[in-house]
Amino acid sequence: MKVVGTIAELEMVPGTGLVPTMGALHDGHVALLRAARQENRTVVMSLFVNPAQFDEQTDLDAYPRDEARDVEIAEAEGVDVVFAPTADELYPPGFATWVDAGEMGAEGAARPGHFRGVATVCLKLFNLVHPERAYFGQKDAQQIAVIRRFVRDLNVPVEIRVVPTVRDPDGLALSSRNGRLSAEERKRALGLPRALASAVGEPDPVAAARASLNGLEPEYVELLDLGDARVLAAAIRVGSTRLIDNVLVEGEFE
Ligand code: PAJ
Repeated sequence: MKVVGTIAELEMVPGTGLVPTMGALHDGHVALLRAARQENRTVVMSLFVNPAQFDEQTDLDAYPRDEARDVEIAEAEGVDVVFAPTADELYPPGFATWVDAGEMGAEGAARPGHFRGVATVCLKLFNLVHPERAYFGQKDAQQIAVIRRFVRDLNVPVEIRVVPTVRDPDGLALSSRNGRLSAEERKRALGLPRALASAVGEPDPVAAARASLNGLEPEYVELLDLGDARVLAAAIRVGSTRLIDNVLVEGEFE
Protein backbone atom coordinates (compact mmCIF):
# COMPACT_ATOMS: atom_id res chain seq x y z
CA MET A 1 0.00 0.00 0.00
CA LYS A 2 1.17 3.51 -0.85
CA VAL A 3 0.46 6.59 1.26
CA VAL A 4 0.69 9.79 -0.78
CA GLY A 5 0.22 13.39 0.24
CA THR A 6 0.48 15.25 -3.05
CA ILE A 7 -1.61 15.38 -6.18
CA ALA A 8 1.51 14.76 -8.29
CA GLU A 9 1.99 11.33 -6.71
CA LEU A 10 -1.54 10.16 -7.56
CA GLU A 11 -1.76 7.81 -10.50
CA MET A 12 -5.07 7.41 -12.28
CA VAL A 13 -5.81 3.78 -13.03
CA PRO A 14 -8.89 2.39 -14.75
CA GLY A 15 -11.16 0.27 -12.56
CA THR A 16 -10.58 2.27 -9.39
CA GLY A 17 -12.98 2.45 -6.47
CA LEU A 18 -12.72 5.56 -4.29
CA VAL A 19 -13.69 5.73 -0.61
CA PRO A 20 -13.63 9.34 0.63
CA THR A 21 -13.17 9.67 4.41
CA MET A 22 -12.15 12.18 7.05
CA GLY A 23 -10.30 9.48 8.98
CA ALA A 24 -10.99 8.41 12.60
CA LEU A 25 -11.98 5.17 10.91
CA HIS A 26 -14.56 2.84 12.47
CA ASP A 27 -16.45 -0.21 11.22
CA GLY A 28 -18.76 1.98 9.11
CA HIS A 29 -15.77 3.14 7.07
CA VAL A 30 -14.47 -0.44 6.97
CA ALA A 31 -17.77 -1.59 5.38
CA LEU A 32 -17.18 0.95 2.59
CA LEU A 33 -13.58 -0.24 2.10
CA ARG A 34 -14.76 -3.86 1.89
CA ALA A 35 -17.47 -3.03 -0.67
CA ALA A 36 -14.89 -1.16 -2.75
CA ARG A 37 -12.36 -3.99 -2.42
CA GLN A 38 -14.92 -6.48 -3.77
CA GLU A 39 -15.89 -4.48 -6.82
CA ASN A 40 -12.67 -2.83 -8.06
CA ARG A 41 -9.18 -3.70 -9.19
CA THR A 42 -7.68 -0.74 -7.34
CA VAL A 43 -8.98 0.91 -4.15
CA VAL A 44 -8.07 4.47 -3.21
CA MET A 45 -9.06 5.85 0.19
CA SER A 46 -8.85 9.57 0.77
CA LEU A 47 -8.11 10.76 4.28
CA PHE A 48 -8.78 14.47 4.56
CA VAL A 49 -10.52 16.49 7.27
CA ASN A 50 -12.11 18.94 4.87
CA PRO A 51 -12.09 22.42 6.47
CA ALA A 52 -14.59 23.68 3.87
CA GLN A 53 -17.44 21.57 5.24
CA PHE A 54 -17.18 22.61 8.91
CA ASP A 55 -19.46 25.44 9.87
CA GLU A 56 -17.65 26.02 13.16
CA GLN A 57 -13.90 26.33 13.69
CA THR A 58 -14.20 24.67 17.14
CA ASP A 59 -15.83 21.60 15.52
CA LEU A 60 -12.96 21.40 12.99
CA ASP A 61 -10.35 21.72 15.76
CA ALA A 62 -12.08 19.05 17.86
CA TYR A 63 -12.30 16.54 14.99
CA PRO A 64 -10.47 13.32 16.02
CA ARG A 65 -7.27 12.63 14.04
CA ASP A 66 -5.08 9.52 14.12
CA GLU A 67 -3.47 9.04 10.73
CA ALA A 68 -1.14 6.21 11.82
CA ARG A 69 -4.07 4.11 13.05
CA ASP A 70 -6.16 4.92 9.95
CA VAL A 71 -3.31 3.90 7.64
CA GLU A 72 -2.99 0.58 9.51
CA ILE A 73 -6.71 -0.13 9.11
CA ALA A 74 -6.59 0.77 5.40
CA GLU A 75 -3.63 -1.55 4.90
CA ALA A 76 -5.39 -4.42 6.69
CA GLU A 77 -8.46 -3.93 4.43
CA GLY A 78 -6.42 -4.20 1.24
CA VAL A 79 -6.48 -0.53 0.21
CA ASP A 80 -3.95 0.17 -2.58
CA VAL A 81 -3.45 3.91 -2.11
CA VAL A 82 -4.22 6.27 0.78
CA PHE A 83 -4.41 9.87 -0.39
CA ALA A 84 -3.84 12.12 2.64
CA PRO A 85 -3.25 15.67 1.38
CA THR A 86 -2.75 18.83 3.41
CA ALA A 87 -5.42 21.55 3.31
CA ASP A 88 -3.06 23.68 1.18
CA GLU A 89 -2.73 20.92 -1.39
CA LEU A 90 -6.48 20.92 -2.04
CA TYR A 91 -7.18 24.60 -1.29
CA PRO A 92 -4.12 26.55 -2.46
CA PRO A 93 -4.05 30.33 -2.10
CA GLY A 94 -6.48 31.87 -4.59
CA PHE A 95 -8.92 28.95 -4.45
CA ALA A 96 -12.31 30.45 -5.34
CA THR A 97 -14.60 27.99 -7.17
CA TRP A 98 -17.36 26.12 -5.37
CA VAL A 99 -20.01 23.54 -6.17
CA ASP A 100 -23.28 25.12 -5.06
CA ALA A 101 -25.43 22.14 -4.23
CA GLY A 102 -28.76 24.01 -4.22
CA GLU A 103 -31.70 23.20 -1.91
CA MET A 104 -30.56 20.60 0.60
CA GLY A 105 -33.54 19.87 2.85
CA ALA A 106 -33.53 20.08 6.63
CA GLU A 107 -29.94 18.91 7.12
CA GLY A 108 -28.66 21.52 4.67
CA ALA A 109 -30.71 24.22 6.36
CA ALA A 110 -29.31 23.21 9.76
CA ARG A 111 -25.69 23.43 8.54
CA PRO A 112 -25.25 26.39 6.16
CA GLY A 113 -22.32 25.91 3.80
CA HIS A 114 -21.74 22.31 4.85
CA PHE A 115 -22.89 20.59 1.65
CA ARG A 116 -21.17 23.17 -0.53
CA GLY A 117 -17.92 22.09 1.14
CA VAL A 118 -18.78 18.39 0.80
CA ALA A 119 -19.77 18.68 -2.88
CA THR A 120 -16.68 20.73 -3.73
CA VAL A 121 -14.19 18.36 -2.11
CA CYS A 122 -15.92 15.30 -3.60
CA LEU A 123 -15.82 16.75 -7.12
CA LYS A 124 -12.12 17.55 -6.62
CA LEU A 125 -11.47 13.98 -5.45
CA PHE A 126 -13.39 12.55 -8.42
CA ASN A 127 -11.34 14.72 -10.79
CA LEU A 128 -8.06 13.71 -9.15
CA VAL A 129 -8.66 9.98 -8.80
CA HIS A 130 -10.99 9.32 -11.80
CA PRO A 131 -12.78 6.51 -9.97
CA GLU A 132 -15.19 4.25 -11.80
CA ARG A 133 -17.17 3.96 -8.55
CA ALA A 134 -17.23 5.95 -5.32
CA TYR A 135 -18.60 4.61 -2.02
CA PHE A 136 -20.72 6.45 0.54
CA GLY A 137 -22.60 5.38 3.67
CA GLN A 138 -26.39 5.44 3.94
CA LYS A 139 -25.84 6.96 7.40
CA ASP A 140 -25.35 10.34 5.69
CA ALA A 141 -28.39 10.12 3.44
CA GLN A 142 -28.57 13.83 2.60
CA GLN A 143 -24.89 13.73 1.63
CA ILE A 144 -25.69 10.99 -0.89
CA ALA A 145 -28.58 13.06 -2.29
CA VAL A 146 -26.25 16.04 -2.77
CA ILE A 147 -23.50 13.99 -4.40
CA ARG A 148 -25.86 12.12 -6.72
CA ARG A 149 -27.40 15.44 -7.75
CA PHE A 150 -24.15 17.19 -8.71
CA VAL A 151 -22.86 14.03 -10.43
CA ARG A 152 -26.00 14.03 -12.57
CA ASP A 153 -26.17 17.80 -13.10
CA LEU A 154 -22.48 18.17 -13.99
CA ASN A 155 -22.21 14.86 -15.90
CA VAL A 156 -19.44 13.49 -13.69
CA PRO A 157 -18.47 10.01 -14.97
CA VAL A 158 -18.63 8.09 -11.68
CA GLU A 159 -21.07 5.59 -10.21
CA ILE A 160 -22.18 6.44 -6.67
CA ARG A 161 -22.56 3.30 -4.55
CA VAL A 162 -24.45 3.28 -1.24
CA VAL A 163 -23.43 1.03 1.67
CA PRO A 164 -25.98 0.31 4.47
CA THR A 165 -25.44 1.93 7.88
CA VAL A 166 -23.28 -0.06 10.29
CA ARG A 167 -24.60 0.00 13.88
CA ASP A 168 -23.41 -1.02 17.31
CA PRO A 169 -25.26 -4.06 18.71
CA ASP A 170 -27.55 -1.70 20.68
CA GLY A 171 -28.66 -0.02 17.43
CA LEU A 172 -26.71 3.26 17.59
CA ALA A 173 -25.25 4.12 14.16
CA LEU A 174 -21.45 4.22 14.31
CA SER A 175 -20.09 7.75 14.17
CA SER A 176 -16.84 9.43 15.11
CA ARG A 177 -19.02 11.67 17.31
CA ASN A 178 -20.28 8.78 19.50
CA GLY A 179 -17.06 8.92 21.52
CA ARG A 180 -18.14 12.29 22.90
CA LEU A 181 -21.27 10.82 24.56
CA SER A 182 -21.28 10.07 28.29
CA ALA A 183 -22.82 6.73 29.33
CA GLU A 184 -26.04 8.50 30.27
CA GLU A 185 -26.12 10.48 27.01
CA ARG A 186 -25.55 7.32 25.02
CA LYS A 187 -28.61 5.73 26.64
CA ARG A 188 -30.70 8.74 25.62
CA ALA A 189 -29.20 8.74 22.11
CA LEU A 190 -30.57 5.22 21.57
CA GLY A 191 -34.03 6.80 21.44
CA LEU A 192 -33.17 8.05 17.93
CA PRO A 193 -32.62 4.69 16.13
CA ARG A 194 -35.50 3.19 18.14
CA ALA A 195 -37.95 5.91 17.14
CA LEU A 196 -36.91 5.67 13.47
CA ALA A 197 -37.18 1.86 13.44
CA SER A 198 -40.60 1.95 15.09
CA ALA A 199 -41.93 4.31 12.39
CA VAL A 200 -41.19 1.96 9.48
CA GLY A 201 -44.47 0.71 7.99
CA GLU A 202 -46.58 3.40 9.70
CA PRO A 203 -48.90 5.42 7.43
CA ASP A 204 -47.28 8.70 8.57
CA PRO A 205 -43.68 7.80 9.46
CA VAL A 206 -42.69 11.38 10.37
CA ALA A 207 -45.51 11.69 12.92
CA ALA A 208 -44.88 8.17 14.22
CA ALA A 209 -41.15 8.85 14.77
CA ARG A 210 -41.86 12.20 16.44
CA ALA A 211 -44.38 10.52 18.76
CA SER A 212 -41.94 7.81 19.85
CA LEU A 213 -39.00 10.14 20.43
CA ASN A 214 -40.56 10.76 23.86
CA GLY A 215 -38.64 13.59 25.41
CA LEU A 216 -35.89 13.85 22.78
CA GLU A 217 -36.35 17.11 20.90
CA PRO A 218 -35.51 16.47 17.22
CA GLU A 219 -33.98 19.22 15.07
CA TYR A 220 -36.00 17.74 12.22
CA VAL A 221 -37.68 14.53 11.12
CA GLU A 222 -38.17 14.27 7.35
CA LEU A 223 -38.73 11.92 4.45
CA LEU A 224 -36.05 12.02 1.79
CA ASP A 225 -36.10 10.50 -1.69
CA LEU A 226 -32.87 8.97 -2.95
CA GLY A 227 -33.60 7.52 -6.36
CA ASP A 228 -35.65 4.38 -5.76
CA ALA A 229 -35.19 4.57 -2.01
CA ARG A 230 -37.15 6.67 0.45
CA VAL A 231 -35.63 7.18 3.90
CA LEU A 232 -36.90 8.67 7.14
CA ALA A 233 -34.13 10.91 8.46
CA ALA A 234 -33.74 12.81 11.73
CA ALA A 235 -31.24 14.82 13.75
CA ILE A 236 -31.15 15.23 17.52
CA ARG A 237 -28.87 16.93 19.97
CA VAL A 238 -27.84 15.00 23.07
CA GLY A 239 -25.91 17.28 25.40
CA SER A 240 -23.49 19.07 23.08
CA THR A 241 -23.37 16.24 20.52
CA ARG A 242 -25.40 16.36 17.34
CA LEU A 243 -26.45 12.98 15.95
CA ILE A 244 -28.13 12.06 12.66
CA ASP A 245 -29.64 8.79 11.53
CA ASN A 246 -32.08 7.43 8.95
CA VAL A 247 -33.92 4.24 8.01
CA LEU A 248 -35.21 2.95 4.71
CA VAL A 249 -39.02 3.18 4.59
CA GLU A 250 -39.63 2.32 0.92
CA GLY A 251 -37.79 0.85 -2.06
CA GLU A 252 -34.09 0.11 -2.05
CA PHE A 253 -30.76 1.70 -2.91
CA GLU A 254 -29.64 1.02 -6.44
P1 PAJ B 1 -16.72 10.68 7.16
O1 PAJ B 1 -17.63 11.21 8.20
O2 PAJ B 1 -15.35 10.26 7.52
O3 PAJ B 1 -17.46 9.46 6.48
C1 PAJ B 1 -16.87 8.80 5.39
C2 PAJ B 1 -17.89 7.85 4.82
O4 PAJ B 1 -18.24 6.86 5.80
C3 PAJ B 1 -19.22 8.57 4.43
O5 PAJ B 1 -19.66 8.09 3.17
C4 PAJ B 1 -20.15 8.15 5.56
O6 PAJ B 1 -21.52 8.12 5.16
C5 PAJ B 1 -19.64 6.75 5.87
N1 PAJ B 1 -20.09 6.32 7.20
C6 PAJ B 1 -19.96 6.99 8.37
N2 PAJ B 1 -20.55 6.30 9.38
C7 PAJ B 1 -21.07 5.18 8.83
C8 PAJ B 1 -21.81 4.07 9.34
N3 PAJ B 1 -22.13 3.97 10.63
N4 PAJ B 1 -22.19 3.10 8.47
C9 PAJ B 1 -21.87 3.20 7.14
N5 PAJ B 1 -21.17 4.22 6.61
C10 PAJ B 1 -20.78 5.20 7.43
O7 PAJ B 1 -18.70 11.82 5.20
C11 PAJ B 1 -17.58 12.30 5.24
O8 PAJ B 1 -16.55 11.77 5.98
C12 PAJ B 1 -17.19 13.53 4.42
O9 PAJ B 1 -18.31 14.36 4.27
C13 PAJ B 1 -16.58 13.18 3.04
C14 PAJ B 1 -17.59 12.44 2.14
C15 PAJ B 1 -15.31 12.35 3.20
C16 PAJ B 1 -16.21 14.49 2.29
O10 PAJ B 1 -15.30 15.24 3.04
